[in-house]
Amino acid sequence: MENVQYDEKADRYVVELVKEDYEHLDEIIGRYSDKPGYLIPALKDAQGIFGFLPLDVQNYLAKGLRISPSHIYGVVTFYAFFTTVPRGQHVIRCCMGTACYVKGAADIVKKVEDTLAIKVDETTEDLKFSLEVVRCVGACGLAPVIFIDDDVHGMLEPKKIENILEKY
Ligand code: FES
Repeated sequence: MENVQYDEKADRYVVELVKEDYEHLDEIIGRYSDKPGYLIPALKDAQGIFGFLPLDVQNYLAKGLRISPSHIYGVVTFYAFFTTVPRGQHVIRCCMGTACYVKGAADIVKKVEDTLAIKVDETTEDLKFSLEVVRCVGACGLAPVIFIDDDVHGMLEPKKIENILEKY
């Protein structure tokens, strides 16, 4: 997203909300307002729009749903499926299923981490790549395997990683 930026001073990602974003958030607030157990689905819907839950979005929802911002922040940071960091333009999924693991998947993950200077579940500062670890993706014959978006890269060795990433 072009309107997402990293605010170094605040050490967090911020999104510049435009009219359309507010309309989407108002829709979510209207949908869930005053319904029991509404907070998690409301946050899920909001994350579905932005890909993450920046503080400005949390605060807007807090106001609309009449919940304290600190309560929302607590929920967002408690559940692993919520994130305050945007996903990168390309998502790298490294398989750590048994077949891949036996064939050296841990070294592949380490090489990707070192090359991009991020850890698993992180995103590069330029928002180009996010790194995730997954279980068997059904391509064990090609182990070890990574997916970058929908592209599968198999029979990997750490030395191939830099060349592969350069193509994205
Ligand atoms: S274990 Fe990696 S594809 Fe099956």
